[in-house]
Amino acid sequence: MSKVHAIITGIGGYVPQYILTNEEISTLVDTSDEWITKRIGIKERRVLKSEEGIGVTYLAEKAIENLRKRKDFDPLEIEVVVFATSTPDYILPNAASLIAYRTGMTKAFGFDVGAACSGFVFALEVGQAFITSGKYKKVMVIAGDTLSVLTDYQDRNTCPIFSDGCGVALLEATTDEEIGIIDAVLHSDGNSLEHLQMWGGGSVNPASHETVDKRMHFIRQDGKIVFKRAVTEMANCSEELMKKNQLTKEDVHWIIPHQANIRIIEAVASRMDVPIEKVMINIEKYGNSSAGTIPLCLWDWEPKLRKGDNIILTAFGAGFTWGAIYLKWGYDF
Ligand code: UT7
Repeated sequence: MSKVHAIITGIGGYVPQYILTNEEISTLVDTSDEWITKRIGIKERRVLKSEEGIGVTYLAEKAIENLRKRKDFDPLEIEVVVFATSTPDYILPNAASLIAYRTGMTKAFGFDVGAACSGFVFALEVGQAFITSGKYKKVMVIAGDTLSVLTDYQDRNTCPIFSDGCGVALLEATTDEEIGIIDAVLHSDGNSLEHLQMWGGGSVNPASHETVDKRMHFIRQDGKIVFKRAVTEMANCSEELMKKNQLTKEDVHWIIPHQANIRIIEAVASRMDVPIEKVMINIEKYGNSSAGTIPLCLWDWEPKLRKGDNIILTAFGAGFTWGAIYLKWGYDF
């Protein structure tokens, strides 16, 4: 009998309406459209603005609404909701429970996964493991962030990069060996805290007047170190995964890298010797929405994907966390 494994049967996505342009960023910090376009590859990004009292779960609800337009499914059949985010609505309760309740997935249990920009890759591995266990048949994997709330719009080292957005993938059980999630390699290295972090708001530095005065509730990074590690690790783990699965670069139809900087994406493609035409890129219009970038690429590209396409997803983020997933796409649009 064939082994049960997981397949993505539908993709949804949502980005906020407000478009924050490079021109507007240039009124906030000492930068320019030319510098951001050339050095980062972003022209504009979306941020959740002025809709009072809503956070990342609003984006997730909209992404699931979008999925329901593209894929017919009964929310009551969803058994597990996994939400990758670094920007939950609240510290507690978890955001997955709120999303499940508000979108009618009321028979599911839900929890959040914290892996920063690698969130979708980590959550997909978690979601597929529930299905491969044989105990669950339908899992909703959601990944998204509202990084704008953690962004210091006085810091030109970070504010041109970050954005808000959310994507969702419905996972179902299949025994068809020709399609579905095949393999993954995941890594983390906690010896890099000082290179990418937000010092305030956690249990070491809980919110206080002092943490606010010291502007500790914003993400800080050492851009150069993060850049170099991101290139090396995404390329290495993708190649490790391909080798493990006897995949040549010619066998791969699409590489979907986390969208943090166009130069990181190009360097990964170049190290792997994969033509840029095989790489999904939408950073120019959506920026870096952390866990949201990979599912938002799948969402953008869904019409071009064909059943059986070999796809490598790869991400790198704070932690550091990084990894790659190999999947064979399951359907024609
Ligand atoms: O997913 C989350 C993880 N984050 C990332 O993956 C980000 C990885 N890092 C990066 O994308 C890049 O390192 C940055 C975009 C953050 C910075 O780009 P860079 O090419 O590494 O710039 P740099 O720090 O080497 O700075 C080069 C020059 C400097 O000027 P001088 O010293 O050569 O005169 C900076 O002061 O560019 C200057 N600069 C800027 N100029 C205009 C740095 N940031 C800006 C800016 N606008 N925003």
